Amino acid sequence: MFAGDGAEVRAGLLDMGLNLASGTASRHALSDLLQRWQPSDRAFTADRLGWADEACAAFVCGDGRVIGADDVVYQHENTPAAAAEMKMAGRLEGWRDTVAALCAGNPLMVATVSLAFAGPLLEPHGLDGGGVHLRGASSRGKSTVQRVAVSVWGSPRFLHSWRATANGLEGVAAACNASLLALDELGEISGREAGAAAYMLANGTGKARANRSGAARASMRWRKVVLSSGEITLADKIAEMGGKAAAGQAVRLLDVAADGRAHGAFDELHGALDGAAFADRLREATATNYGTAGPIFVAAFLEQREAATMTVRGAIELFRAMAAERFDLSDEGQTARATARLGLVAAAGELATTFGLTGWAPSAARDAALEVLGGWLDGRGGSDPAEAREAVERVRAFLVAHGDARFEPVMKGNDDRPVSNRAGWRDGDTFFIGADAWREIHKGADPSRAARHLQDAGFLTPGEGNNMAKKAPRSIKDRPRAYVVAAKIMGAGNE
Ligand SMILES: Nc1ncnc2c1ncn2[C@@H]1O[C@H](COP(=O)(O)OP(=O)(O)O)[C@@H](O)[C@H]1O
Ligand SMILES: [Mg+2]
Repeated sequence: MFAGDGAEVRAGLLDMGLNLASGTASRHALSDLLQRWQPSDRAFTADRLGWADEACAAFVCGDGRVIGADDVVYQHENTPAAAAEMKMAGRLEGWRDTVAALCAGNPLMVATVSLAFAGPLLEPHGLDGGGVHLRGASSRGKSTVQRVAVSVWGSPRFLHSWRATANGLEGVAAACNASLLALDELGEISGREAGAAAYMLANGTGKARANRSGAARASMRWRKVVLSSGEITLADKIAEMGGKAAAGQAVRLLDVAADGRAHGAFDELHGALDGAAFADRLREATATNYGTAGPIFVAAFLEQREAATMTVRGAIELFRAMAAERFDLSDEGQTARATARLGLVAAAGELATTFGLTGWAPSAARDAALEVLGGWLDGRGGSDPAEAREAVERVRAFLVAHGDARFEPVMKGNDDRPVSNRAGWRDGDTFFIGADAWREIHKGADPSRAARHLQDAGFLTPGEGNNMAKKAPRSIKDRPRAYVVAAKIMGAGNE
């Protein structure tokens, strides 16, 4: 900034109220003074919100507060406007005794509030972001649940809307780094924009852009948890426009039904007359008590870092063990990811309770996360027709494109040319698709779930036991396992 005639320095200082005489003499004098100055204090600048550095020793809140260090200063050319809503009202005790207290007995709220505490744990533990999508009919309390989770970090306006262009969303995502990105009303944006947004959220980066001097600045990075809501799933939203639902899956939003509990999204109304009255109480409570618990959680984490890390690890392990005992987790892929994600939710909630922030019974957060996992497992089996359709369509398109060139006849004729880049074998009306090719076909999706969808649709013959792939016919060397698909799938069309 001192380079050239120093206009950039002066502009900044004038902006902050410096009174400077006109004329070059005073400019030179100012420049001289500043350059000779030898300050004894040092400060570090952070150019992003959330964890300020790789060591995760200081945390910058949207309103400029810095937790964990007094020599870190937040500086950014364009702070997202959304960040200012990460502020506080009332005291922690007020939040705990009103908002958190009303969560008791309501697994969905306990789990989403716990999710809100998970944001700052991601980076110190080297975990990727991800989140939950609350799906359900209108006026069942989905946005209210989101507002409750948002109150961990900021004002009700820290609940953002999907209705934003992907560019606006980028700023919002940066504002919520390491905390909670809550996005309401998925229905209000187009499938195309949902796809672009999902892609951006999944990647964890914004577009690279140039700073004033033309040099490319590292694109914004963020690691945060997402809490979304809408009447349909993100994958269905993206598919509305014929987009690739794989992007929706990549963002790793766990679909959770939020309208089928005893009272819409709620179970226990704490004496309120009905779900609507309870929602109103929550709205009032979150309007006056917010933004205290999240920052205090971060401060407590920094103070007792080692113990907290042990608590988190232990809680995740215990969650996994209990989940394995209670549910059938043999299906890998998505189930493993869902279990890992909810294990972190359980751990974050338990840690918050240990820190005295929630007032919940010990293990309340874990039980809530287990309940959400159970609901997800129940609701998931074959219940997503769009996903099943896509799995069939991917295989159909692949066989139409490569059925001749990349499949070797099981019975070789004399004039058969060798097959390059072999995807499998063909025997009359049956394709044997190799495991590598199968993964290639279902890239971005879950290959074993895809196999199950094809089996349900009558196109795939599974192997023995839990194995979806079958040993190839005897005439094939080494008899590798392959997915056995009937050629009639090619006529299945895409209606
Ligand atoms: N569980 C419920 N049962 C009945 N009415 C509800 C319930 N939850 C919310 N409402 C009503 O719907 C309104 C909107 O609540 P909101 O949380 O925004 O619902 P959603 O996001 O599911 O559409 C509330 O002001 C309340 O009147
Ligand atoms: Mg809503």
